[in-house]
Amino acid sequence: MSITSQKILFLAAQHDTMRRMKKKLKILTYGCQMNVADSERMSGLLQQIGYTLTDDFDAADLILINTCCVRATAEDKVFGQIGRFKALKRIKPSLIIGVAGCMAQKEGANLIKRAPHVDFVLGTGQSSEVARVVKSLERERKHFVDVSNVSGDIPAEVFPIRNGQVSTFVPIMYGCNNFCTYCIVPYVRGRERSRKPEEIFAEVNQAVAEGFKEITLLGQNVNSYAGGMTFAELLSAVDKLGVERLRFMTSHPKDLSDELIAAIANGQHICEHIHLPVQYGSDKILRRMNRVYTVEKYLRLVEKIRAAIPNVSLTTDLIVGFPGETDADFTETLEFLRAVKFDAAFTFIYSKRSGTPAATFENQIDDETKHRRLDLLMKVQNEISLAKNLALVNSIEEVLVEGASKTDEKIFTGRTRSNKLVLFAHGDECAGDLIRVKITQAQTFLVKGEVVD
Ligand code: SAH
Ligand code: SF4
Ligand code: F3S
Repeated sequence: MSITSQKILFLAAQHDTMRRMKKKLKILTYGCQMNVADSERMSGLLQQIGYTLTDDFDAADLILINTCCVRATAEDKVFGQIGRFKALKRIKPSLIIGVAGCMAQKEGANLIKRAPHVDFVLGTGQSSEVARVVKSLERERKHFVDVSNVSGDIPAEVFPIRNGQVSTFVPIMYGCNNFCTYCIVPYVRGRERSRKPEEIFAEVNQAVAEGFKEITLLGQNVNSYAGGMTFAELLSAVDKLGVERLRFMTSHPKDLSDELIAAIANGQHICEHIHLPVQYGSDKILRRMNRVYTVEKYLRLVEKIRAAIPNVSLTTDLIVGFPGETDADFTETLEFLRAVKFDAAFTFIYSKRSGTPAATFENQIDDETKHRRLDLLMKVQNEISLAKNLALVNSIEEVLVEGASKTDEKIFTGRTRSNKLVLFAHGDECAGDLIRVKITQAQTFLVKGEVVD
């Protein structure tokens, strides 16, 4: 054997040992897209200190739980999960367990008091410190909590390890200044901070170079982007960077500008879909929620959007059971839904969040009433969603292919520009392809179709 081939064999063996020696990270993400993006960033930082991702809890040397606390149910899930890791830690005492994200920010040291097998708690403003914290715990094991700076600086350079292969998220701003009276987000995500356009462009270019076809720009309220240009200008600039499909969320109805509507109408890759959370359909409740718009203003905005952007799809969020909600308020909301005809709505039962103003409001609604109203609200909206989807039957839609469906390898899924889920029989399409599909059947939450040559 020549010296060169001996050397190659040696290097290959060394590489293999290194690979096997690599520490394993299992990251669990709860909550919204912002948390997904943060988890990808934390994974990138932890990779730089030698961690590779695993799906196997038993193989993990580090388990990081990125948490949400927007509703009590989100917190319950996290506590349940943390409890299950106690046994793992008993078997493998070297395992490091960390909690990050919104619930970490909210609970801080309480989490360790309640679950002492958790090693560290890192607030939302310090997630970019994760590698430093883990390194110090590898050297010396002791409990570590840092939730001191909720409005922490945004790192200029990021190296996310992105999930999936077709669609990805790029945060453009962090935090929220709106203080809707039910919402915990401003307390656990801090004040609004906008990233610089150059940093956003660099990250979009990086994602496009990695092969991503669809990018969603993220912020709690993208309309208040303040990085030296308006959100509409930013969106139009990103539209020119060569991504196949461009989306954004979330837009607060109080300041969705004419300029933004025009940017979407005139954009090339900007999808005709706006997620525009209304939260409720009566002025009394909207006022008590501190949403700063009226039903009338929202309806006028919808009219304006629909006039400027044909085929636009509109989706929303709604909360039932807000303190003080009467049958009359609720009936108004059902009428509002029937008037607007959203393509889809995410509906939530009001969850009391301590520290928010609404938690102390009088006339909290009982559980039975909340559930009854939610069921009715969903029934009304589901009929509307189905009617909207039925209207697509026989049309030909541009679909971005996502891949095989979870239940059947021969059925592939994709999304229309309006963000509707499409199922179709698989031919030779690959994930990431843009294809044309003729819609043949409609259901409440999806449509089915046939690929058109
Ligand atoms: N910044 C975004 C997302 C906020 S959280 C926005 O303003 O739309 C996502 C959704 O959770 C909200 O739109 C709201 O409908 C819901 N939500 C927030 N706080 C809640 C609470 N206390 N109880 C129930 N739903 C809540
Ligand atoms: Fe919460 Fe309102 Fe901010 Fe959205 S805009 S994150 S609902 S406070
Ligand atoms: Fe939840 Fe935090 Fe997002 S509270 S909804 S993960 S901003």
